[in-house]
Amino acid sequence: MSDLKLPTDIRIKPLPDSVPPPMELISMADPNEQQVLDYLPHCLVLVASHQESIVGVLALSPEGKEKAEIKVLAVAPGYRRKGIGRLLLQEAGIRAKRLGFTELQVCTGNSSIRPFQLYQQAGFDLTDIRWNYFTMHYPDPIIEEGIVCRHQLVLIKTL
Ligand SMILES: CC(C)(COP(=O)(O)OP(=O)(O)OC[C@H]1O[C@@H](n2cnc3c(N)ncnc32)[C@H](O)[C@@H]1OP(=O)(O)O)[C@@H](O)C(=O)NCCC(=O)NCCS
Repeated sequence: MSDLKLPTDIRIKPLPDSVPPPMELISMADPNEQQVLDYLPHCLVLVASHQESIVGVLALSPEGKEKAEIKVLAVAPGYRRKGIGRLLLQEAGIRAKRLGFTELQVCTGNSSIRPFQLYQQAGFDLTDIRWNYFTMHYPDPIIEEGIVCRHQLVLIKTL
């Protein structure tokens, strides 16, 4: 655990209908805006709020009867390494199970080293690799930690 403390007044709840989705935050997890606009209306969007500001977001989408998929997970830069990402994942698992899903899936890129670490710590297991997925589906190159993002890693957690 990092030594940065989780503020005690962080609240995690579904995004109210009256509040627009935090697109800037979402784009940090998925830069393909058209893709986001296509799947977001079908998602349960959870937000982490601190003093009226949205500082984290997770979008959960049904993928068939058994499986729900985390489409987006992002935390605002000033709030990272405080456990908010882990909290959002926990809450997504609880809600997905309550909704009757038995598996929770999340996909990430080969360059997303930290998210890959976080997902495995949260109980997800690598089940598939979609070779060259990002090269084929994203117009602009994605580079993180000096690594070109080319392949998609599929991770699943049994609920
Ligand atoms: C990935 C992300 C959501 C993590 O959110 P977070 O609130 O910082 O994550 P947490 O504080 O809950 O971290 C949990 C664990 O993940 C790992 N981790 C996450 N970010 C890390 C970093 N920058 N450096 C090292 N470890 C990291 C650590 O193991 C951490 O546990 P620890 O703090 O006890 O060591 C956040 O960095 C983010 O929004 N990144 C940009 C968007 C993105 O890449 N989304 C994922 C797309 S697949």
